[in-house]
Amino acid sequence: MKFDGRRVLITGAARGIGRVTATVMAELGADVALFDRNEAVAETAEQVRHLGRNAVHHLVDVADHGAVADAVAGVEAELGPVDALVNNAGITTNIAPLDRMSPEKWQLELGVNLTGAFNTIQAVVGGMAERGWGRIVNVSSAAARGGLHSQVGYASTKAGLLGLTRNVTVEYAGRGVTCNAVLPGMIGTEKVMAMPKEIFDQAVSQSPTGRPGDPAEVAHLIAFLCSDVAGYINGVDILIDGGAAMNSVVLGSRRALRERGE
Ligand SMILES: NC(=O)c1ccc[n+]([C@@H]2O[C@H](COP(=O)([O-])OP(=O)(O)OC[C@H]3O[C@@H](n4cnc5c(N)ncnc54)[C@H](O)[C@@H]3O)[C@@H](O)[C@H]2O)c1
Repeated sequence: MKFDGRRVLITGAARGIGRVTATVMAELGADVALFDRNEAVAETAEQVRHLGRNAVHHLVDVADHGAVADAVAGVEAELGPVDALVNNAGITTNIAPLDRMSPEKWQLELGVNLTGAFNTIQAVVGGMAERGWGRIVNVSSAAARGGLHSQVGYASTKAGLLGLTRNVTVEYAGRGVTCNAVLPGMIGTEKVMAMPKEIFDQAVSQSPTGRPGDPAEVAHLIAFLCSDVAGYINGVDILIDGGAAMNSVVLGSRRALRERGE
């Protein structure tokens, strides 16, 4: 896979999967534009420059339609047109059973996780279609296919991203644009590694692989979907969960089974 100076816009690039995706893309020869509302996004840009590629960053809330449009115009002036877009910015704020869910937090998750992707896609997809080449990857979640207890807002927005993905394919595939979703299971980002140990252990125990995913594993899948060779993959959602979804029924934790010698 070679990106040969192609310009990739990545949202949520201050840390986690977004930051690693930026450096993986740079190693493959891409120049990057990085959006985040966290100032640490400047450090990611610095890491990319150390790899010898161009990087620009913008402090932007992806939920803000006007701010996204302005920032994309800035990127186009600084780097040139956006060839590939990775919608990675995402939040989980609303951890409560549905009957106790705060409507304000529901709106917040909807705004960042789903409307944020609409905003960035709307800002770049017309240009991609005019130039006859574009790649869009939406970072959804394994939660989009099932449910996630006490996170109905998060799971619903991640499922909504799949509808957005498929619609972009239907509207733009004929003009050289692909749009796909990746559905990570548990990935060992800073956020996940800071979870309470018992919750982390329980979640890991449900994966037959027995470990969290590495952010770089997700980044390489995203890079593949953004590459030239993935031009015939369009409108799909790809799980990257170490096989966790294969566990249709979880009868006990791996540790408990090991203790029983099974
Ligand atoms: N880590 C996992 O296990 C996992 C699993 C499934 C899906 N995902 C998804 O992958 C993506 C990245 O996950 P992560 O673990 O790296 O998360 P993270 O919290 O470490 O990083 C998310 C980044 O998005 C930025 N961000 C949040 N709201 C924003 C906004 N309104 N505007 C701009 N930037 C904003 C944050 O500042 C942060 O830098 C998210 O969409 C998440 O839902 C992660």
